[in-house]
Formats: sequence, C-alpha cells, structure tokens
Amino acid sequence: MSIELALDPYLIRSDFPIFNRTVRDNKRLIYLDNGATSQKPEVVIEAEANFYRNTNAAVHRGAHHLAEEATEAYEEARDSVSEFLGAKPSEVIFTKNATEAINLLAYAFTNAESGNRFHLTPQDRIVVTEMEHHANLIPWQQLAKRSGAHLGWFCVDDEGRLDLSDIDSIITESTKIVALTHQSNVLGTINPLGAIIARAHQVGAIVVLDACQSVPHMEVDVASLGVDFLAFSGHKTLGPTGVGVLWGRSELLEDLPPFLFGGSMIETVTMTGATWAAPPTRFEAGVPNMAQAVGLSTALKYLSNVGMRNIHAHEMKLTERLLDALNEKKSVTIFGPKNLEMRGGVVSFAVEGIHPHDLGQFLDSHGIAVRTGHHCAWPLNRKLGVVATTRASFYLYNTDADVDELVIGINAAEKYFGTI
Ligand code: ALA
Repeated sequence: MSIELALDPYLIRSDFPIFNRTVRDNKRLIYLDNGATSQKPEVVIEAEANFYRNTNAAVHRGAHHLAEEATEAYEEARDSVSEFLGAKPSEVIFTKNATEAINLLAYAFTNAESGNRFHLTPQDRIVVTEMEHHANLIPWQQLAKRSGAHLGWFCVDDEGRLDLSDIDSIITESTKIVALTHQSNVLGTINPLGAIIARAHQVGAIVVLDACQSVPHMEVDVASLGVDFLAFSGHKTLGPTGVGVLWGRSELLEDLPPFLFGGSMIETVTMTGATWAAPPTRFEAGVPNMAQAVGLSTALKYLSNVGMRNIHAHEMKLTERLLDALNEKKSVTIFGPKNLEMRGGVVSFAVEGIHPHDLGQFLDSHGIAVRTGHHCAWPLNRKLGVVATTRASFYLYNTDADVDELVIGINAAEKYFGTI
C-alpha cells in the first residue's frame, strides 16, 4: 500500500521550470488557466527529450536495437496509462488529443456497416448535454448529420447542474450514444454519472465520457465508473501536447471499425483490400506520437506519486477559498454550483460593469493568467445569458497566495474601471 504524503504546492512548484520565470515586467507568474492546459514538470520535459536523444526509432517496425527499445518505451507508456485508469493496456488508444479521440469514435460509427453494433440509422438517437465543450458536441452533431440520427440533450439548471428530471424521455429506447462531460470546463460541475449510465445501459446505449477536466484532477477508475469509452488529453495532465487517449471496453473495441487507414493498423493487404489488426493497433495508423506518449507516461507517474486524492483535496481547498472570497462580493456573479458539493477546481465568474476581456487583460498586467471568453462551450454561455466569463482553474502547483492575488486583482480592477 502506498502512503500519500500531504501535498506541498511550493515543493511541487520547484519541479516546474516555468515558475522560475516572470511575466509582464518581472511579475510572479500566477497561472490559473489549467483548464486550458497544464504546465510541465522537468521530468516530463526530460522524458520526451530523452526519447529523441537516446531511443528514437519507428515503433512496431524493424528489428534493430533502437526500434526494439522505442517499441518497449511506447508500450510501457500504454501500460502506465492503463494502470492510471484501472484498464487493460489493449483498451488504451493513443491519439493526437482528446478532440481526435472523440472524433475517432464518431467517425468509427460512420464507418460501421449495417449489422455492426455501431451502425446508426435515422431511427437512432444521440444524447449530449448543454454543458459540453465543443470537442464533445460538434463531433456528435456531425455524426447525427451524416447518419440522419436525432440529436437530443440534457439541459443545465440554474445551479449549473444537469436537469435529469426527464431522463427517460431524453435517453429513449432508440438512444445509441450518450456522450457527456465528467466535469464541466466552465461551471466546475461534476456530473452524477450513476443514473445516466444506468438508463443508457438499460436501453442498450453506449456512454462516452469526456474526462478532459477530471482525469488530470481526481482519481478516475474506468472499471468502477461503468462508462464504455473515455477520452482525455495529455497536455492538461502535465504531459506533452500532441498526445491524447481514447479508452474503450475491450468487447466494444473488438467490433469498432477503424477511423484512420494506413500503415500499422492492418493485418493483411492486397491490391484491392485489407483486413484490420486487433485493437488498439487498429486505431493507431502511421508512426505514432512515441515521444509524447512516453512524456505522458512520466506525467501520470508524477501525478500518482503526489496522489490523485491529495491533488483533488488541494484543489478543493483553493476552490473553497476563492468561492468564499467571491461570495462576499455583491458585484461578482459565480456561474455553476456555489458550494463545493460535486464540483471541481474551476470557477467561472462575472464582475459587474467589467467585460471579461478587460478583466483578463487587467489581471494579466498583474501576472495573473486566467481564461476569458466562451471557453469553447458556446451553447452553455448562451444558456447562462453571457457572451463570455472569466475563469480561474487550479492545479496541484497553485497556492493560497495565488487565490489571494486573484481576489486582490479583481478588487484592483473594480477600482481601475471605476465600477465601485
Ligand atoms: N480547452 C478548453 C478549456 O480551456 C476547452 O476549457
């Protein structure tokens, strides 16, 4: 049994070279844009560079020494991901990012022929939610267009939670796919998966979980979650850009047709046709992102050493500190759950009389990096009745001082713009 020591964000920061630099005229970098991408510890940067320095060769081809080592490193990376998710290695597919992972699945549905469990018809239904970011909305909209299937969705209530009151008429008997986010990138809401998965499976639908905002921040075990597919991105998980993961249940991957065609993903080829390799190779056409997969594996080991429960607890402490401070301010509207129950370390808000872009620019001039805009979740912004919000999103290296500086920055912005 491993013992998780309490997380010290100052110690952790010393592992991340980027915190040695300053921004905007020598200001301390207060990085609160982790929902968009995370910073990288030295070990991850080194693991990726080391692959190129010492191991680089095309995996799964050639019998030479480097090819063998590269293949071993790449497959070990797959093992790390599967261990991190509580999955089997053969269920882990490396993609370019989470967006590609979800598109892979959506296009695989399109490639399914009549008789295959993934074949969709105009009688079928795909269900999403109003809180999806574009990566888990547009691929399903497009699949609905290509197949003629109907697109339905769960709405978001005033508390920023999914309205499940009408679950049986949203996930109907004809539903084939239910795709939803684990944690909203705008509201921080963690969705109650139990009831949704139970209903989806009752009607024979598969559940696709967008875990971009959960896998980096909390313990996620696919076996206990009960979903069928899950996607996350490496770059939000302390890993390099250019690598994401699609996880799928073995028995489903067996029947899933490929999306990208070419080298590596085949079993046999003639001049007129080909047959496909077994999963996960079937879904990894071409020379894959080997160095990035190795970097991601190092990132996941780093996270595991710190402990995912510690990370979540730490982010919740920071979230509570920020919610407490913002709840005190009458001029601030918080979007999403106002208390800590079933929410993660993402806080979106509006400050009366200040456009989010102006606020973002003002905070940036104080060294504070937040995200402003629609956060790639345009329909949700419309539902909230805003064109944009300001979002602070935390990670393991953020400190109480980061939260306090943000609040000081908001107060200073109100004075600067003359709204108080
Ligand atoms: N990557 C997008 C974000 O910042 C979706 O939340």
